[in-house]
Amino acid sequence: MRLDRFLGNLPCYNRQQVRLLLIQRRVRVDGAVVADPLHEVREFSRVEVDEQLHQAGRPPRYLMLHKPTGCVSATQDPQHQTVLDLLPAELRDDLHIAGRLDYNTTGLMILTNDGQWSRRLTQPRTKLPKVYRVQTEDEIGTHYVDKFREGFYFAFEDLTTLPAQLDILAPREARLAIVEGRYHQVKRMFGYFQNKVVGLHRERMGPIELDPALAPGEFRALSSAEIAAV
Ligand code: URA
Repeated sequence: MRLDRFLGNLPCYNRQQVRLLLIQRRVRVDGAVVADPLHEVREFSRVEVDEQLHQAGRPPRYLMLHKPTGCVSATQDPQHQTVLDLLPAELRDDLHIAGRLDYNTTGLMILTNDGQWSRRLTQPRTKLPKVYRVQTEDEIGTHYVDKFREGFYFAFEDLTTLPAQLDILAPREARLAIVEGRYHQVKRMFGYFQNKVVGLHRERMGPIELDPALAPGEFRALSSAEIAAV
């Protein structure tokens, strides 16, 4: 939110006062004086006027987890282990999942408390590829490639999937890059050919690759370069 709106929404200042506070250089964001009314205030920003703290801010957090099979992509579940259960309790607070995976899908899962950042990673409009290694029950025909590029009509959502890149690696194995994350998208795409997905592993989301040093169930913080790349 813009700084002038943030301050104007507080019960203590009207718009005229906000303008004055900024001109008088009495507003600090993350410790630095800010006079620009358009300066962006996020939930992570610390905002002070004179010595009064109006928002304490909190640190943004970004983790990558190697999701194992047999756990659900949810923050809570009455029956099954969740991906959050794999983290120490003190790290779980306020995290959400950027791009869910099915119960038996493995691979890269990103957890963060930064909604703006995770939307950039997951929204189709940013066109960041989510790359999967797929194993199927039956052979993958070369004619699949064009169909993946053309798109599949999903009646439930009434949409056609965006162009996807399928690279056949072996008779029953392929690498697939999609820019969306529709419900069971990969399984439904192969389902069009009545070819069952028997193994699914996410290798990459946009610029972030699953760290090969992470065993299933392990996690690490993203580096500042990985965070900045999104
Ligand atoms: N597509 C699927 O069908 N399942 C997943 O877990 C991810 C993508």
